[in-house]
Amino acid sequence: MLPYRIAYRTLISLTDPEWAHLAAMRLIAAFGRSPLAPLVARTVGYRGGEKVTGLLARPLPGRVGLAAGQDKKADAVLGLDALGFAFVEVGTVTPEPQPGNDKPRLWRHREPTALRNRMGFNNDGADAVAARLAELRSTARGKKAIVGVNIGKNKWVSAADAPADYRTCARKLAEYADYLVINVSSPNTPGLRDLQAVDSLRDIARATRKGAAEAGVRAVPVLVKIAPDLADEDIEAVARMVAEERLDGVVAVNTTIAHDFGEGGLSGAPVRERALEVVSRLRSVLGRDYLIIGVGGVFGVGDAENMVRAGADLVEILTGFVCEGPLLPGMLNRALARPVR
Ligand SMILES: Cc1cc2nc3c(=O)[nH]c(=O)nc-3n(C[C@H](O)[C@H](O)[C@H](O)COP(=O)(O)O)c2cc1C
Repeated sequence: MLPYRIAYRTLISLTDPEWAHLAAMRLIAAFGRSPLAPLVARTVGYRGGEKVTGLLARPLPGRVGLAAGQDKKADAVLGLDALGFAFVEVGTVTPEPQPGNDKPRLWRHREPTALRNRMGFNNDGADAVAARLAELRSTARGKKAIVGVNIGKNKWVSAADAPADYRTCARKLAEYADYLVINVSSPNTPGLRDLQAVDSLRDIARATRKGAAEAGVRAVPVLVKIAPDLADEDIEAVARMVAEERLDGVVAVNTTIAHDFGEGGLSGAPVRERALEVVSRLRSVLGRDYLIIGVGGVFGVGDAENMVRAGADLVEILTGFVCEGPLLPGMLNRALARPVR
Protein backbone atom coordinates (compact mmCIF):
# COMPACT_ATOMS: atom_id res chain seq x y z
CA MET A 1 0.00 0.00 0.00
CA LEU A 2 2.78 2.43 0.94
CA PRO A 3 4.48 2.32 -2.51
CA TYR A 4 1.11 3.00 -4.19
CA ARG A 5 0.32 5.81 -1.75
CA ILE A 6 3.67 7.42 -2.54
CA ALA A 7 3.03 7.00 -6.29
CA TYR A 8 -0.44 8.51 -5.88
CA ARG A 9 0.89 11.55 -4.03
CA THR A 10 3.72 12.11 -6.50
CA LEU A 11 3.53 10.68 -10.04
CA ILE A 12 -0.20 10.03 -10.31
CA SER A 13 -1.00 13.45 -8.86
CA LEU A 14 0.79 15.05 -11.80
CA THR A 15 -1.68 13.54 -14.26
CA ASP A 16 -5.14 14.78 -15.20
CA PRO A 17 -7.55 12.96 -12.82
CA GLU A 18 -10.07 11.94 -15.48
CA TRP A 19 -7.35 10.76 -17.85
CA ALA A 20 -5.82 8.71 -15.01
CA HIS A 21 -9.22 7.26 -14.16
CA LEU A 22 -9.89 6.19 -17.76
CA ALA A 23 -6.38 4.77 -18.18
CA ALA A 24 -6.68 2.79 -14.93
CA MET A 25 -10.08 1.40 -15.90
CA ARG A 26 -8.80 0.41 -19.36
CA LEU A 27 -5.91 -1.38 -17.71
CA ILE A 28 -8.16 -3.17 -15.22
CA ALA A 29 -10.57 -4.18 -18.01
CA ALA A 30 -7.70 -5.61 -20.11
CA PHE A 31 -6.25 -7.35 -17.07
CA GLY A 32 -9.68 -8.91 -16.38
CA ARG A 33 -9.76 -10.43 -19.87
CA SER A 34 -6.20 -11.79 -19.60
CA PRO A 35 -5.15 -15.19 -18.21
CA LEU A 36 -3.33 -13.24 -15.48
CA ALA A 37 -6.60 -12.37 -13.71
CA PRO A 38 -7.45 -15.79 -12.20
CA LEU A 39 -3.82 -16.09 -11.08
CA VAL A 40 -3.85 -12.72 -9.35
CA ALA A 41 -7.26 -13.48 -7.86
CA ARG A 42 -5.69 -16.42 -6.07
CA THR A 43 -2.88 -14.29 -4.62
CA VAL A 44 -3.67 -10.61 -3.92
CA GLY A 45 -7.38 -11.00 -4.59
CA TYR A 46 -9.82 -12.38 -2.14
CA ARG A 47 -11.35 -15.79 -2.37
CA GLY A 48 -12.22 -15.95 1.27
CA GLY A 49 -13.40 -18.74 3.45
CA GLU A 50 -16.99 -18.41 4.42
CA LYS A 51 -19.49 -16.90 1.98
CA VAL A 52 -21.77 -14.10 3.17
CA THR A 53 -25.30 -15.44 2.92
CA GLY A 54 -28.79 -14.10 3.52
CA LEU A 55 -28.23 -10.63 2.01
CA LEU A 56 -28.74 -11.21 -1.70
CA ALA A 57 -30.20 -14.17 -3.60
CA ARG A 58 -26.67 -15.53 -4.10
CA PRO A 59 -23.97 -15.80 -1.44
CA LEU A 60 -21.26 -13.13 -1.65
CA PRO A 61 -17.57 -13.99 -1.40
CA GLY A 62 -17.01 -11.08 1.02
CA ARG A 63 -18.44 -7.84 2.40
CA VAL A 64 -16.52 -5.19 0.47
CA GLY A 65 -17.43 -4.06 -3.04
CA LEU A 66 -16.81 -1.21 -5.46
CA ALA A 67 -19.13 1.82 -5.31
CA ALA A 68 -20.91 3.21 -8.36
CA GLY A 69 -19.07 5.69 -10.55
CA GLN A 70 -15.81 3.83 -11.09
CA ASP A 71 -17.04 1.27 -13.66
CA LYS A 72 -19.79 3.24 -15.38
CA LYS A 73 -19.33 1.23 -18.58
CA ALA A 74 -19.55 -2.20 -16.89
CA ASP A 75 -16.52 -3.39 -18.84
CA ALA A 76 -14.04 -3.99 -16.02
CA VAL A 77 -16.03 -6.30 -13.73
CA LEU A 78 -13.75 -9.31 -14.19
CA GLY A 79 -10.61 -7.31 -13.47
CA LEU A 80 -12.15 -5.70 -10.39
CA ASP A 81 -13.36 -9.09 -9.21
CA ALA A 82 -9.82 -10.48 -9.58
CA LEU A 83 -8.42 -7.58 -7.53
CA GLY A 84 -10.51 -8.73 -4.59
CA PHE A 85 -13.82 -6.90 -4.74
CA ALA A 86 -16.60 -9.18 -3.52
CA PHE A 87 -19.07 -7.32 -5.71
CA VAL A 88 -19.09 -4.46 -8.19
CA GLU A 89 -21.79 -1.80 -8.50
CA VAL A 90 -21.72 -0.56 -12.09
CA GLY A 91 -23.25 2.71 -13.32
CA THR A 92 -24.89 5.09 -12.91
CA VAL A 93 -26.66 4.05 -16.10
CA THR A 94 -29.37 6.21 -17.71
CA PRO A 95 -31.85 5.07 -20.42
CA GLU A 96 -30.10 7.02 -23.21
CA PRO A 97 -26.36 7.60 -23.52
CA GLN A 98 -25.22 11.08 -22.42
CA PRO A 99 -21.84 12.84 -22.38
CA GLY A 100 -22.04 14.32 -18.87
CA ASN A 101 -20.83 17.79 -17.93
CA ASP A 102 -18.03 19.71 -19.62
CA LYS A 103 -14.46 19.06 -18.48
CA PRO A 104 -12.76 19.60 -16.13
CA ARG A 105 -15.14 17.70 -13.89
CA LEU A 106 -12.93 15.64 -11.56
CA TRP A 107 -10.39 16.97 -9.05
CA ARG A 108 -8.08 15.50 -6.40
CA HIS A 109 -7.69 17.03 -2.94
CA ARG A 110 -4.75 16.23 -0.74
CA GLU A 111 -5.88 17.68 2.58
CA PRO A 112 -8.34 16.25 3.45
CA THR A 113 -7.81 13.24 1.19
CA ALA A 114 -10.73 13.49 -1.19
CA LEU A 115 -12.01 13.57 -4.74
CA ARG A 116 -14.43 16.15 -6.04
CA ASN A 117 -16.53 15.49 -9.12
CA ARG A 118 -19.29 16.95 -11.23
CA MET A 119 -19.26 14.22 -13.87
CA GLY A 120 -23.02 14.44 -14.53
CA PHE A 121 -23.81 10.79 -15.31
CA ASN A 122 -21.58 10.44 -18.36
CA ASN A 123 -22.50 6.95 -19.53
CA ASP A 124 -23.14 4.77 -22.58
CA GLY A 125 -26.85 4.23 -21.89
CA ALA A 126 -28.89 1.21 -20.84
CA ASP A 127 -28.75 -0.71 -24.14
CA ALA A 128 -24.95 -0.62 -24.39
CA VAL A 129 -24.48 -1.55 -20.72
CA ALA A 130 -27.08 -4.34 -21.02
CA ALA A 131 -25.18 -5.74 -24.01
CA ARG A 132 -21.89 -5.70 -22.06
CA LEU A 133 -23.49 -7.35 -19.05
CA ALA A 134 -25.09 -10.00 -21.30
CA GLU A 135 -21.63 -10.78 -22.66
CA LEU A 136 -20.21 -10.90 -19.12
CA ARG A 137 -22.96 -13.27 -17.97
CA SER A 138 -22.26 -15.58 -20.94
CA THR A 139 -18.91 -16.65 -19.44
CA ALA A 140 -18.34 -18.86 -16.40
CA ARG A 141 -16.33 -16.19 -14.51
CA GLY A 142 -18.79 -13.50 -15.49
CA LYS A 143 -21.75 -15.53 -14.28
CA LYS A 144 -20.12 -15.90 -10.88
CA ALA A 145 -19.38 -12.19 -10.36
CA ILE A 146 -21.79 -10.34 -8.08
CA VAL A 147 -22.92 -7.21 -9.91
CA GLY A 148 -25.15 -4.37 -8.71
CA VAL A 149 -26.54 -1.96 -11.29
CA ASN A 150 -27.02 1.68 -10.27
CA ILE A 151 -29.65 3.49 -12.35
CA GLY A 152 -30.59 7.13 -12.92
CA LYS A 153 -32.48 9.46 -15.23
CA ASN A 154 -31.26 11.39 -18.24
CA LYS A 155 -30.41 15.04 -17.65
CA TRP A 156 -33.14 16.39 -19.97
CA VAL A 157 -35.91 14.34 -18.37
CA SER A 158 -38.23 16.27 -16.01
CA ALA A 159 -39.00 15.22 -12.46
CA ALA A 160 -42.52 14.27 -13.58
CA ASP A 161 -41.13 11.85 -16.17
CA ALA A 162 -38.34 10.51 -13.98
CA PRO A 163 -40.20 7.33 -12.90
CA ALA A 164 -40.40 6.23 -16.56
CA ASP A 165 -36.60 6.51 -16.88
CA TYR A 166 -35.99 4.33 -13.82
CA ARG A 167 -38.56 1.83 -15.11
CA THR A 168 -36.80 1.63 -18.50
CA CYS A 169 -33.41 1.07 -16.88
CA ALA A 170 -34.80 -1.59 -14.55
CA ARG A 171 -36.50 -3.40 -17.43
CA LYS A 172 -33.34 -3.43 -19.54
CA LEU A 173 -30.84 -4.23 -16.80
CA ALA A 174 -32.54 -6.30 -14.07
CA GLU A 175 -31.81 -9.56 -15.85
CA TYR A 176 -28.07 -9.12 -15.28
CA ALA A 177 -28.17 -7.57 -11.81
CA ASP A 178 -27.77 -9.12 -8.38
CA TYR A 179 -29.27 -5.88 -7.08
CA LEU A 180 -30.50 -2.56 -8.47
CA VAL A 181 -29.83 0.83 -6.92
CA ILE A 182 -32.14 3.80 -7.47
CA ASN A 183 -29.75 6.74 -7.54
CA VAL A 184 -31.51 9.96 -6.56
CA SER A 185 -28.56 11.45 -4.72
CA SER A 186 -25.92 12.58 -7.21
CA PRO A 187 -25.45 16.35 -6.94
CA ASN A 188 -24.47 16.75 -10.59
CA THR A 189 -27.80 16.29 -12.36
CA PRO A 190 -29.93 19.39 -11.77
CA GLY A 191 -32.97 18.61 -9.61
CA LEU A 192 -32.07 14.93 -9.10
CA ARG A 193 -31.68 15.18 -5.35
CA ASP A 194 -35.16 16.68 -5.01
CA LEU A 195 -36.39 13.22 -6.01
CA GLN A 196 -35.29 12.05 -2.55
CA ALA A 197 -38.50 13.67 -1.24
CA VAL A 198 -40.55 10.71 -0.17
CA ASP A 199 -43.50 11.23 -2.54
CA SER A 200 -41.28 11.45 -5.63
CA LEU A 201 -39.17 8.57 -4.43
CA ARG A 202 -42.21 6.40 -3.83
CA ASP A 203 -43.29 6.78 -7.49
CA ILE A 204 -39.77 6.01 -8.67
CA ALA A 205 -39.57 2.96 -6.39
CA ARG A 206 -42.85 1.60 -7.78
CA ALA A 207 -41.76 2.28 -11.36
CA THR A 208 -38.44 0.54 -10.76
CA ARG A 209 -40.19 -2.50 -9.31
CA LYS A 210 -42.53 -2.55 -12.34
CA GLY A 211 -39.59 -2.35 -14.73
CA ALA A 212 -37.77 -5.15 -12.92
CA ALA A 213 -40.93 -7.29 -13.05
CA GLU A 214 -41.26 -6.58 -16.77
CA ALA A 215 -37.76 -7.99 -17.25
CA GLY A 216 -39.43 -11.29 -16.40
CA VAL A 217 -36.59 -12.67 -14.29
CA ARG A 218 -36.38 -13.61 -10.61
CA ALA A 219 -37.15 -10.81 -8.14
CA VAL A 220 -34.15 -8.50 -8.00
CA PRO A 221 -33.47 -6.61 -4.75
CA VAL A 222 -34.00 -2.86 -5.12
CA LEU A 223 -32.13 -0.35 -2.94
CA VAL A 224 -32.16 3.45 -2.77
CA LYS A 225 -28.95 5.50 -2.63
CA ILE A 226 -29.13 8.66 -0.53
CA ALA A 227 -27.04 11.78 0.02
CA PRO A 228 -25.16 12.55 3.23
CA ASP A 229 -26.66 16.05 3.16
CA LEU A 230 -30.22 14.95 3.93
CA ALA A 231 -31.52 16.13 7.30
CA ASP A 232 -31.91 13.39 9.89
CA GLU A 233 -35.72 13.48 9.69
CA ASP A 234 -35.53 13.07 5.89
CA ILE A 235 -33.26 10.06 6.29
CA GLU A 236 -35.82 8.53 8.62
CA ALA A 237 -38.62 9.34 6.16
CA VAL A 238 -36.73 7.58 3.35
CA ALA A 239 -36.15 4.57 5.60
CA ARG A 240 -39.85 4.37 6.44
CA MET A 241 -40.73 4.61 2.74
CA VAL A 242 -38.28 1.78 1.98
CA ALA A 243 -40.12 -0.39 4.49
CA GLU A 244 -43.62 0.66 3.34
CA GLU A 245 -42.80 -0.01 -0.31
CA ARG A 246 -41.06 -3.27 0.58
CA LEU A 247 -37.83 -2.23 -1.03
CA ASP A 248 -34.78 -4.17 0.07
CA GLY A 249 -32.49 -1.56 1.55
CA VAL A 250 -30.40 1.57 1.26
CA VAL A 251 -26.95 2.52 -0.02
CA ALA A 252 -25.57 5.33 2.14
CA VAL A 253 -23.98 7.69 1.17
CA ASN A 254 -23.31 9.56 -2.07
CA THR A 255 -20.97 12.58 -2.33
CA THR A 256 -21.55 15.73 -0.27
CA ILE A 257 -22.15 19.29 -1.43
CA ALA A 258 -21.49 20.64 2.07
CA HIS A 259 -18.03 22.04 1.30
CA ASP A 260 -16.41 25.14 -0.13
CA PHE A 261 -13.82 23.64 -2.46
CA GLY A 262 -15.77 24.55 -5.59
CA GLU A 263 -18.29 22.84 -7.82
CA GLY A 264 -19.34 19.21 -7.51
CA GLY A 265 -19.69 16.53 -4.85
CA LEU A 266 -16.91 15.67 -2.44
CA SER A 267 -16.02 12.06 -1.53
CA GLY A 268 -13.45 10.36 0.67
CA ALA A 269 -12.33 11.51 4.13
CA PRO A 270 -14.79 14.45 4.37
CA VAL A 271 -17.86 12.16 4.18
CA ARG A 272 -16.55 9.47 6.55
CA GLU A 273 -18.15 10.65 9.76
CA ARG A 274 -21.52 11.57 8.27
CA ALA A 275 -21.67 8.22 6.40
CA LEU A 276 -21.36 6.40 9.74
CA GLU A 277 -24.11 8.55 11.29
CA VAL A 278 -26.45 7.98 8.34
CA VAL A 279 -25.86 4.21 8.36
CA SER A 280 -26.49 4.01 12.08
CA ARG A 281 -29.70 6.10 11.81
CA LEU A 282 -30.95 3.92 8.96
CA ARG A 283 -30.25 0.77 10.93
CA SER A 284 -32.10 2.04 13.95
CA VAL A 285 -35.22 2.77 11.85
CA LEU A 286 -35.07 -0.29 9.59
CA GLY A 287 -34.06 -2.98 12.07
CA ARG A 288 -32.13 -6.05 10.93
CA ASP A 289 -34.36 -7.09 8.03
CA TYR A 290 -33.07 -4.64 5.43
CA LEU A 291 -29.81 -4.52 3.52
CA ILE A 292 -27.64 -1.50 4.28
CA ILE A 293 -24.58 -0.84 2.15
CA GLY A 294 -22.26 1.67 3.87
CA VAL A 295 -20.07 3.84 1.65
CA GLY A 296 -18.04 6.98 2.22
CA GLY A 297 -14.49 7.57 3.31
CA VAL A 298 -13.41 3.96 3.81
CA PHE A 299 -9.62 3.99 3.38
CA GLY A 300 -8.54 1.16 5.64
CA VAL A 301 -9.51 -1.74 7.90
CA GLY A 302 -10.50 0.49 10.84
CA ASP A 303 -12.90 2.52 8.65
CA ALA A 304 -14.49 -0.63 7.22
CA GLU A 305 -14.92 -2.10 10.71
CA ASN A 306 -16.53 1.15 11.89
CA MET A 307 -18.99 0.94 9.02
CA VAL A 308 -19.98 -2.58 10.09
CA ARG A 309 -20.22 -1.45 13.74
CA ALA A 310 -22.52 1.40 12.62
CA GLY A 311 -24.84 -1.21 11.08
CA ALA A 312 -23.71 -1.81 7.50
CA ASP A 313 -24.10 -5.33 6.10
CA LEU A 314 -21.84 -4.55 3.17
CA VAL A 315 -19.26 -1.84 2.55
CA GLU A 316 -18.37 -0.08 -0.69
CA ILE A 317 -15.30 1.96 -1.53
CA LEU A 318 -14.35 4.31 -4.35
CA THR A 319 -12.06 7.15 -3.25
CA GLY A 320 -10.17 4.76 -0.96
CA PHE A 321 -9.50 2.48 -3.93
CA VAL A 322 -8.20 5.41 -5.99
CA CYS A 323 -6.00 6.81 -3.18
CA GLU A 324 -4.82 3.60 -1.48
CA GLY A 325 -4.51 1.34 -4.50
CA PRO A 326 -5.45 -2.05 -5.90
CA LEU A 327 -4.54 -4.14 -2.85
CA LEU A 328 -7.13 -2.42 -0.65
CA PRO A 329 -10.25 -4.45 -1.61
CA GLY A 330 -8.59 -7.81 -0.92
CA MET A 331 -7.16 -6.52 2.35
CA LEU A 332 -10.53 -5.20 3.54
CA ASN A 333 -12.35 -8.38 2.58
CA ARG A 334 -9.82 -10.50 4.45
CA ALA A 335 -10.20 -8.26 7.51
CA LEU A 336 -14.01 -8.30 7.45
CA ALA A 337 -14.05 -12.08 7.13
CA ARG A 338 -13.24 -12.02 10.86
CA PRO A 339 -16.03 -11.08 13.27
CA VAL A 340 -16.10 -7.32 13.98
CA ARG A 341 -16.54 -6.44 17.66
C1 LIG B 1 -15.56 10.26 -9.66
C2 LIG B 1 -16.78 9.78 -8.95
C3 LIG B 1 -17.89 9.41 -9.69
C4 LIG B 1 -19.03 8.96 -9.02
N1 LIG B 1 -20.12 8.56 -9.78
C5 LIG B 1 -21.20 8.06 -9.15
C6 LIG B 1 -22.29 7.59 -9.91
O1 LIG B 1 -22.29 7.60 -11.14
N2 LIG B 1 -23.36 7.10 -9.22
C7 LIG B 1 -23.41 7.03 -7.86
O2 LIG B 1 -24.39 6.56 -7.30
N3 LIG B 1 -22.36 7.46 -7.11
C8 LIG B 1 -21.27 7.96 -7.73
N4 LIG B 1 -20.21 8.39 -6.98
C9 LIG B 1 -20.29 8.32 -5.50
C10 LIG B 1 -19.65 7.06 -4.96
O3 LIG B 1 -20.30 5.91 -5.41
C11 LIG B 1 -19.68 7.07 -3.41
O4 LIG B 1 -21.02 7.04 -2.98
C12 LIG B 1 -18.99 8.30 -2.81
O5 LIG B 1 -17.85 8.64 -3.56
C13 LIG B 1 -18.56 8.06 -1.36
O6 LIG B 1 -17.67 6.98 -1.25
P1 LIG B 1 -16.06 7.13 -1.21
O7 LIG B 1 -15.75 8.13 -0.14
O8 LIG B 1 -15.55 5.75 -0.92
O9 LIG B 1 -15.65 7.61 -2.57
C14 LIG B 1 -19.06 8.87 -7.60
C15 LIG B 1 -17.93 9.25 -6.88
C16 LIG B 1 -16.80 9.69 -7.53
C17 LIG B 1 -15.60 10.11 -6.72
